Amino acid sequence: MTKTCIITGASRGIGRAIAVSLSYEEDVTNFILISRTETGLVETALLMNREKNIHCYALDLGNYSEVREMISEIGEKYGAIDMLINVAGYANPQSLLETSIEEWEKTYQVNVHSLFNITKEAVKYMKQSGGKILNVASTAGSSARPGWLAYASSKAALISISQTLSEELAGYGILVYCISPGRCATELRRILAPDEDPSTIMQPEHVGEVVQQLLSDNGVCLDGQNIVVRKQVQQVKSPSKQTS
Ligand SMILES: NC(=O)c1ccc[n+]([C@@H]2O[C@H](COP(=O)([O-])OP(=O)(O)OC[C@H]3O[C@@H](n4cnc5c(N)ncnc54)[C@H](OP(=O)(O)O)[C@@H]3O)[C@@H](O)[C@H]2O)c1
Repeated sequence: MTKTCIITGASRGIGRAIAVSLSYEEDVTNFILISRTETGLVETALLMNREKNIHCYALDLGNYSEVREMISEIGEKYGAIDMLINVAGYANPQSLLETSIEEWEKTYQVNVHSLFNITKEAVKYMKQSGGKILNVASTAGSSARPGWLAYASSKAALISISQTLSEELAGYGILVYCISPGRCATELRRILAPDEDPSTIMQPEHVGEVVQQLLSDNGVCLDGQNIVVRKQVQQVKSPSKQTS
């Protein structure tokens, strides 16, 4: 059985780590990697299992008609889409009074509207034989984040979309997963916390391993829930001063 898997936001960070992890799953044969930057996608492909069939699509997910055309091309070519992993995301942390309507719309366009668009199209090619959808939300979507209004509320929408679709698509044999990573060392995190030392927080590869587990047969009971993915990082304590 050969499976086809689409991963958005695959040019770096968490999306890249997920693509690399999943490429070592035996039954997934065809990978479609999406982001706006072709060079990043090609770098990801070079890190993946070379035995897989990997296609890179450099496009803006906010271009809804181009995305619809791409999904129909993939669906017609492979006959079915088995996995859709929605990772692409955008963050520009600002308070209510700092946020322009354009910033608000941009955040929702990447994090919510484009996810709705690609998911709707992919489900048309998933519903005959079932499949798996995984959405990457955030811990910011389920707790108060003053100063991150647009990002946090868009991720809350993603948690709700995942829970609703989990029930709505169950009849087609489609499982919907939602993960909410905590702090993870990527470019996006550098924007959110520029002064943080990335070596002290969770790495994208940790999230990649969790997604690989979830989408394997071990994850059958974990769909429809908001799964928080956090790693406790041990702080190395400097030796306390000896007093004589
Ligand atoms: N890092 C964290 O601490 C953290 C915590 C919780 C949740 N998350 C979530 O995890 C996901 C991945 O984040 P990350 O930290 O890996 O961020 P990242 O390194 O900034 O990666 C974001 C990815 O999304 C793609 N992307 C952004 N806008 C796009 C668009 N309009 N069209 C197509 N692709 C687009 C980017 O590719 P291009 O720029 O090439 O288009 C890139 O591949 C995001 O949804 C984020 O909200 C991250």
